[in-house]
Amino acid sequence: MDDEAVLRDTLAEFLSQEGFCVSTAASAQEALELVKREHFDITFCDLQLPDEDGVRLLEKILQISPDTFVLVLTAYGSLDSAVEAFKRGAHDYLTKPVRFEELLAKLQHLMRYRQLHLENQWLRRELHRQYDFDQIIGDSQAMREVFALVSKVAPTRSTVLILGESGTGKELIARAIHYHSMERQERFLAVNCAAIPQDLLENQLFGHKRGAYTGADRDQEGLFVRAGRGTLFFDEIAEMPLALQAKLLRAIEQKEILPVGANEPVRVQARILAATNKDLAQLVEQGRFREDLYYRLNIVTIRLPPLRERREDIPALVEFFVARHSRELKKHFVGVDHEAMKVLMGAPWKGNVRELENVIQRAVILGEGPLITAKDLPPGLAPDPEVCLTDDLREAVAHFERQHIKRILRETPDKKEAARRLGVALSSLYRKIEELGIELEPRGERTATEKVLASPAPSRS
Ligand SMILES: Nc1ncnc2c1ncn2[C@@H]1O[C@H](COP(=O)(O)OP(=O)(O)OP(=O)(O)O)[C@@H](O)[C@H]1O
Ligand SMILES: [Mg+2]
Repeated sequence: MDDEAVLRDTLAEFLSQEGFCVSTAASAQEALELVKREHFDITFCDLQLPDEDGVRLLEKILQISPDTFVLVLTAYGSLDSAVEAFKRGAHDYLTKPVRFEELLAKLQHLMRYRQLHLENQWLRRELHRQYDFDQIIGDSQAMREVFALVSKVAPTRSTVLILGESGTGKELIARAIHYHSMERQERFLAVNCAAIPQDLLENQLFGHKRGAYTGADRDQEGLFVRAGRGTLFFDEIAEMPLALQAKLLRAIEQKEILPVGANEPVRVQARILAATNKDLAQLVEQGRFREDLYYRLNIVTIRLPPLRERREDIPALVEFFVARHSRELKKHFVGVDHEAMKVLMGAPWKGNVRELENVIQRAVILGEGPLITAKDLPPGLAPDPEVCLTDDLREAVAHFERQHIKRILRETPDKKEAARRLGVALSSLYRKIEELGIELEPRGERTATEKVLASPAPSRS
């Protein structure tokens, strides 16, 4: 856009020959009309216009089309207007008189830069999308409660304790909280408390001053500072040494830390999330975890259910992982066949979602497709005896009766009392035991499933 007709036309011709697709405008008015109608990768405009202040025009163009890059033309020696243009969002400038080769070089550079810029934006969006709820699979009641809780706590800066067995998705949920918070543009930093020795962990978290010990030849920022207003995620928090627990508590309560070797505390603002697969309350009782820290972390607790307690989520998870790994491995799997699904539905899944994902990934690597078959699954993937796999109604009822009576008998070994709980006569109970082939076990440990069932339901605070 330039009001000098000769310059405008020769430039347009030159740039067209260089392979650009060019439109011209003689006034700010005309330029704005064009920008409203068409999309431009780059606009090149003179700051001295007959009908409008150049910087104002620049602002209007960026308002209409924020993805457009703007190159401005300024009078020789008027650096002020170039600076002003930069402040308002111009990407580069050129001084009069226009030298064609210089203009071409700048345009080519801007095009490359713009490409990178757009790619970067796209990657960031993708990164966030990874933690969108549609990428975290689960339609079971328990998972819906988890999502509801995540939505509620994410925008607050509350500390959240995430509990669940290994592989249930604790880190995934921690990231989802971060990416649904106001500070999603800030950093999410994860610290694995089990993997790092105490001294090193302290150093990593709080940083050190120069000369704090031999080898510390300069100040080093810790993760608390680097996280800024973002999120600091303490994975396997139960493994944190007691001495560091005290310092962590202080960081959370006073919002300040003391770098190793420093005299002055440093203010910190990071949001704290923590996760563990251990029973923290029990560790508190045993004196292995600080009670005050436990209550600090425990303000909101999210409990992730083990996969075996939400088997109804297995088909959707399977579909999701089949799609993910076939895409990544460039294979053409579309799902699993009936036999394989039966095995997947019934497996014990001690390693939870991670184990399921690994099994699917392995099948996609080894199998031919387009469906995963039972022979693509690891041979050791035996069905959980507590799960009913039959389609036959009578067999299914018998299966349920067997499991139910076994459980009651385990809890209440006295048969008279068990019969009373079951609401049947003692003689009927004996007949059922006989018919269903129930082996009477000596009273012992409850199964893992029963223990979890007996534990409190997910907190909804
Ligand atoms: N609901 C889910 N939807 C999709 N993927 C999931 C889900 N839950 C877990 N995953 C995937 O399973 C794997 C394990 O999840 P994650 O690392 O979050 O588990 P974890 O609870 O932190 O495990 P650990 O205690 O072993 O560290 C990851 O690849 C994660 O993406
Ligand atoms: Mg983890």
